[in-house]
Amino acid sequence: MTTIGVIGTGYWGKNHVRTYSELVSENVIDSVKICDIDEKRAHELGNAFNIEYLTDHRELLSDPDIDAVSIVTPSHTHYPLAKEFMEAGKDVLVEKPMTMDSKEAEHLVEVSEDTGQILMVGHIFRHHPAVKELKKRIDLGEFGSIQLITSNRLSFGAPRKDMGVVYALGIHEVDMFCHLVDKEYPDSILATTRCNLQPDIEETAMITMDLGDTTAHALESWLMPAYGKQRDLVVVGSEKAAKIDYLKPQELQIFDIRIAEQDFNGKSAFSVENEGSYTIPIPYAEPLKEELRHFVDCIRNRNTPISDGVVGMRAVKMAEAVLRSAREGRRIQF
Ligand SMILES: NC(=O)c1ccc[n+]([C@@H]2O[C@H](COP(=O)([O-])OP(=O)(O)OC[C@H]3O[C@@H](n4cnc5c(N)ncnc54)[C@H](O)[C@@H]3O)[C@@H](O)[C@H]2O)c1
Repeated sequence: MTTIGVIGTGYWGKNHVRTYSELVSENVIDSVKICDIDEKRAHELGNAFNIEYLTDHRELLSDPDIDAVSIVTPSHTHYPLAKEFMEAGKDVLVEKPMTMDSKEAEHLVEVSEDTGQILMVGHIFRHHPAVKELKKRIDLGEFGSIQLITSNRLSFGAPRKDMGVVYALGIHEVDMFCHLVDKEYPDSILATTRCNLQPDIEETAMITMDLGDTTAHALESWLMPAYGKQRDLVVVGSEKAAKIDYLKPQELQIFDIRIAEQDFNGKSAFSVENEGSYTIPIPYAEPLKEELRHFVDCIRNRNTPISDGVVGMRAVKMAEAVLRSAREGRRIQF
């Protein structure tokens, strides 16, 4: 029997509720309960999915039926809520960013260790089918040595009021770049940010991470009207390159390219081999559903999630370094 509570049913929490409801229909979990301090919101969603709703999370803390919760509330509330639920004996999936402060993130990892409760963080792109396929192929050595990674997360829309693009979007990139090359942290981070509309809430950030043999660049912006909603990742290796459009989880585009230095009549020159590109089809799976299935699997089998509290904590430390680099105009070493 597994019953999960969703705390926070706003823009993103609604998706957790819908997805858990699908998992109930598929008999993966038994039931879901929801909680939002905005009663109208909780009531509407509860009615739409025929789910019991509450307005005070403390009722879920003491509910013996609740095994675990998804915390999908504003980021500054993640720390107290995640702590309270783990201390009450519930497993926790907390959305990214895990916290807005690395000291709080460290403490949540300690609470998870002390209580034995599972702590997972919503780094959804680690659960993205095309990313999983790409990572498998990188680990098999198909790409050779990884030389360059780039990512764009661009759109034109109202900026968030509670955090800028670094915590809202760039946190995905700093985690993904380390994940792809199996590093806990980069060697260094260099970043610039720009706040045009609200003080201290940057709507654009440019992040460069030195990952040893690899350099990774990310551009994040809510002020970019030219490309629609663009969310992509490009990985260039010595043997192959790949592109993922995050909005198309069922596709991984591979570029059969190589640049090699050759001897031409005693003179060294670069030869470029380009055999074109092809797309590897991947069975469709919604990334959030993969993430929540993984959470349920970890709850049942007491496994460490692939996006556990330590992953979430490292991402918060990297996001802090991004903002510090931009503020101080210098490279931050790890
Ligand atoms: N993984 C992803 O790709 C992704 C995408 C979007 C948002 N998020 C994260 O999800 C979180 C929520 O973002 P959002 O855009 O849905 O925000 P939102 O403001 O739309 O929704 C937050 C909801 O939480 C409720 N709430 C606040 N405090 C509460 C409490 N103590 N108990 C119960 N309910 C409470 C609010 O009433 C609101 O309905 C943020 O941390 C954000 O970074 C993650």
